[in-house]
Amino acid sequence: MQVVHTIADLRAALAPFDAPAFVPTMGNLHEGHIALVKQAKNLGDVTVASIFVNRLQFAPHEDFDTYPRTLEADCEKLAAQGCDVVFAPSEKDLYPEPQGYKVHPPTELADILEGHFRPGFFVGVCTVVMKLFQCALSQGKGPRTAVFGKKDYQQLMVIRRMVQQFAMPINVVGGDTCRADDGLALSSRNGYLSAAERQEAVQLSLALKALARESLTTGTDLHQLEAKARETLDARGWASDYLTVRRRSDLLPPAPDQRQAGELVVLGASRLGKTRLIDNLEF
Ligand code: PAJ
Repeated sequence: MQVVHTIADLRAALAPFDAPAFVPTMGNLHEGHIALVKQAKNLGDVTVASIFVNRLQFAPHEDFDTYPRTLEADCEKLAAQGCDVVFAPSEKDLYPEPQGYKVHPPTELADILEGHFRPGFFVGVCTVVMKLFQCALSQGKGPRTAVFGKKDYQQLMVIRRMVQQFAMPINVVGGDTCRADDGLALSSRNGYLSAAERQEAVQLSLALKALARESLTTGTDLHQLEAKARETLDARGWASDYLTVRRRSDLLPPAPDQRQAGELVVLGASRLGKTRLIDNLEF
């Protein structure tokens, strides 16, 4: 496995290949990331993972400075899975000057849910992903496939639309969410949880499951069901941003006659102590 830090070295490493499969990450890798890499291995002739904690997608009050940086352990995990190339640029390599050109995703998709509670988040994500894709462009050939987790459901949709709308010749593939034995979605931010919080953390996915079930089995207004789900979770000490049932197609609320299995996703974001967790379930 080659570990490269500059754009020039990444292009040199990819030059012999026709169809790179790319997995962008911010590092501190867990089984969820590794599953995406395994998936990517079957989708291209070379597997590339990037590790870059992208300042542009963090608000000033968020955890950019404390986000765990574990490059050596990450590379060991990637090598063990047969990843071919790791691109781990420094900030100076990726942003040698302030990134004034940015990708602004459409508000109706990117200013709701995560984008509502983290203004500018998807501008930062789209901008870095667009740039990472360009960095992997070597001798006229770029990544053919890119794998993103459904754990970040809205992110996957935002990237998919970006690639489609800019007519980028990249197949965006979604990877299933990897969970701990108790059902908690794996996340680099789970490491911030105390032992007691870690025990409690599974309640977010349980609340989402219950909300999904009730939205199919009762005729109660969705807003009421969502408010109840949120009150129940917050009564346990959480501070919820949203728990909501949406259409998979555009993440807008379903009309009453669209409350049927197969087309919906329930999404949630909630803080437990200082840690903000997100999760979702298709149903
Ligand atoms: P990061 O949080 O490191 O996640 C990298 C990729 O791993 C994303 O596609 C994410 O959805 C996926 N992932 C995270 N947890 C997962 C889990 N439990 N199961 C399956 N996949 C999981 O998402 C980002 O980084 C950044 O926003 C990035 C796209 C790299 C842009 O900076």
